[in-house]
Amino acid sequence: GGGKLNPLMRVQKDAAEFYHRVLLTTKAGERGMQYAQKRQLDQKVLDHFNIGYAPKEDNVLITYLRGKGYQDDELAKSGLFVESKDGRLFDRFRDRLMFPLDNENGRTIGFSGRRISDDKTEAKYMNSPETEIFTKSKVLFHFAEAKKAARSEQHLILYEGYMDVIAAYKAGISSGIASMGTSLTDDQVYMLRRVTPNIIINYDGDPPGVHAEERAARMFNKAGNFNLGIVVLPDNLDPDEYVRKYGAEKYRNEVNGAKTPTEFFLERLAKKYNLNNDREKITYLNEAVKEIAQVRNPVERDMYIEQLARNAQVSPDSLKANLARELRRNN
Ligand code: GTP
Ligand code: MN
Ligand code: MN
Ligand code: MN
Ligand code: MN
Repeated sequence: GGGKLNPLMRVQKDAAEFYHRVLLTTKAGERGMQYAQKRQLDQKVLDHFNIGYAPKEDNVLITYLRGKGYQDDELAKSGLFVESKDGRLFDRFRDRLMFPLDNENGRTIGFSGRRISDDKTEAKYMNSPETEIFTKSKVLFHFAEAKKAARSEQHLILYEGYMDVIAAYKAGISSGIASMGTSLTDDQVYMLRRVTPNIIINYDGDPPGVHAEERAARMFNKAGNFNLGIVVLPDNLDPDEYVRKYGAEKYRNEVNGAKTPTEFFLERLAKKYNLNNDREKITYLNEAVKEIAQVRNPVERDMYIEQLARNAQVSPDSLKANLARELRRNN
């Protein structure tokens, strides 16, 4: 049903349906299906995310779309093809598991393709190039669906990877979204704010993931009016790997146990210092008090000070004196 689709979006929709059908119903798609099974993507998931497969040959999609009546000049603008020196078009995505990327109304505007082969000289993920309708900095994977889910789940959960959003979905969490890679943009922060102030960040548990969480948390704090939770998974695991290893229930517990940004920053800080060394401990405590001084709610500040005092085995009063000085400085 629905009204007339923008022609640029119509190509993307036709391509998505084609890739999906290739994966589910064709001989050429068996390779993709084997990979999908290896990643434990069942029929329900393949349908919900409209996942597909781009075959190995370099002229499958182009032939199909020409057959549907598309002209080459139209197709050239879609980002789905690469142009040879003599101006001929070939399929850009080959032998990849295809994830459609949708705008906030759920219309497909581009793709990301996961490499299936073991050939490490090929990029693991390949994205559509920027087009008239596809601006990477404004795309959030699964955003249209997650927005709906946020009404009941009362939050959005930000992931690093598409497979993490999918793992969460399988674990019963439909409010997952992902930016393309780890660098969140201001546009994306603003998109999220229009849906809910409650954001849980759950990037990969490896050092780059935790570092990116720190960066993201600073961005949300700077934008203001967010209520943040931060999940750090153990053993360098990403959410997809975690769910595989420990199961859905344990994963949901990790999400429910999300830390406040201050707890997260204080724990990060503690790891940077050798707290058995007095000078390092003093520097740590000063930095920690500065962090606590950023908290707006005085009750919360007190809570963190008491916690810090207990952990560092110093008197809360001295920390409170430092905090008061810090607060005066900030004003
Ligand atoms: P899997 O290995 O399929 O589980 O992917 P992942 O999501 O765990 O990948 P990783 O943690 O390495 O990267 C997180 C996200 O960064 C991915 O989901 C992609 O959006 C992006 N990314 C990873 N590798 C590449 C790449 O080679 N090129 C591009 N453009 N993006 C990538
Ligand atoms: Mn389907
Ligand atoms: Mn990662
Ligand atoms: Mn990952
Ligand atoms: Mn992964």
